[in-house]
Amino acid sequence: MALIRARIARAGGWIPFSQFMALALYAPGLGYYAAGAHKLGRGGDFVTAPELSPVFGACLATQCAEVLSACPAGEILEVGAGSGVLARDVLQALARQGQLPTRYRILETSPDLRERQQALLDPVARELGVPIEWLDQIPEQSFSGVILANEVLDALPVDRFRHGPSGLEAMGVSSEDVGLAWCAKPADQALHTAVTALELDLDLEVTCEYCPSMSAWLSAIAAPLSFGALLLIDYGGARREVYHPSRVDGTLSCFHRHLQHNDPFTRVGLQDMTAWVDFTRVAEAAIEAGLGVVGFTTQAHFLLANDFEGHVAALHEGARPDDVVDHVRAARRLVLPTEMGERFKCLGLTRGDWSSLRGFKLRDFTHTL
Ligand SMILES: C[S@@+](CC[C@H](N)C(=O)[O-])C[C@H]1O[C@@H](n2cnc3c(N)ncnc32)[C@H](O)[C@@H]1O
Repeated sequence: MALIRARIARAGGWIPFSQFMALALYAPGLGYYAAGAHKLGRGGDFVTAPELSPVFGACLATQCAEVLSACPAGEILEVGAGSGVLARDVLQALARQGQLPTRYRILETSPDLRERQQALLDPVARELGVPIEWLDQIPEQSFSGVILANEVLDALPVDRFRHGPSGLEAMGVSSEDVGLAWCAKPADQALHTAVTALELDLDLEVTCEYCPSMSAWLSAIAAPLSFGALLLIDYGGARREVYHPSRVDGTLSCFHRHLQHNDPFTRVGLQDMTAWVDFTRVAEAAIEAGLGVVGFTTQAHFLLANDFEGHVAALHEGARPDDVVDHVRAARRLVLPTEMGERFKCLGLTRGDWSSLRGFKLRDFTHTL
């Protein structure tokens, strides 16, 4: 809070929300992802799909296997690997499918999570004989294979805007006696240009989010991929779903000990903050970066098209009947429409000549983007 207050004072009393979010989540040693909070899993603040069930990683591995089989010396690069369980589950499933990558690399901004990932994954690397490496920056040398990012786009800092009485306004952050507060200011030229490009048709009172770094992030992450696929999984949807008039207060959400709310100014640095992903914009940025959009579907359809039932059945092998019931219940949450099945989407992007990928063959909603 002291750091953020100092930044606000130095900036003349107001900072854009994206600057506040970047500090609250990533300020070295202080931000939510840069300090010691437990974060993921049952004992943390939120549960992601790979934390719920190994079936998620096994299905992703089935999709990776299809891509890797077409890439001599193919690799996997995972961005934002959380506790490392997705890397473990993907590699173990690829070993069973006989399609291990030549190496698995992880790009992780959080030093604290990187330590947890290393503790979990070093034995996996030894057991499977696959090098697992951590990167400090996006690799410069080109490679072929797969780039994975589960729930990373939603963690990129967003700006907030609304159409106020005096036109387009940026909803930023000011410092009050008792804490931090929302404060509207006329939008600058950059925000005007960005919002105009979205071509929204919205009610005047609606507040929305916009991720200023998304296009540059995507193009930088995809740059070294010479042949293969990028799989981006996150909550969000096509633009008309994300910027819907019924979402009067946008899609910003905070998570603390599994409680979801929309006040970013409490427990600053101790709670997660996310916003829905506008997948139409991600697809536009991908095309600008020279990638192909090979498919867009719900998490449920993506997992079902990647042998979800087969991977659930495999949970029975060597497990006690009571455990099997728990495992199957958890796996079911990945695909139920009221849980993660429909809110989460998967966007498939490709470099090279790919006409389709198996994960999008059951249902492809690319036309809705
Ligand atoms: C919500 S967690 C998801 C973790 C994991 N993928 C999962 O599904 O459990 C977001 C992850 O992205 C990382 N992250 C956030 N911004 C990043 C960036 N710009 N580059 C790489 N990792 C990032 C965070 O440190 C964290 O590991």
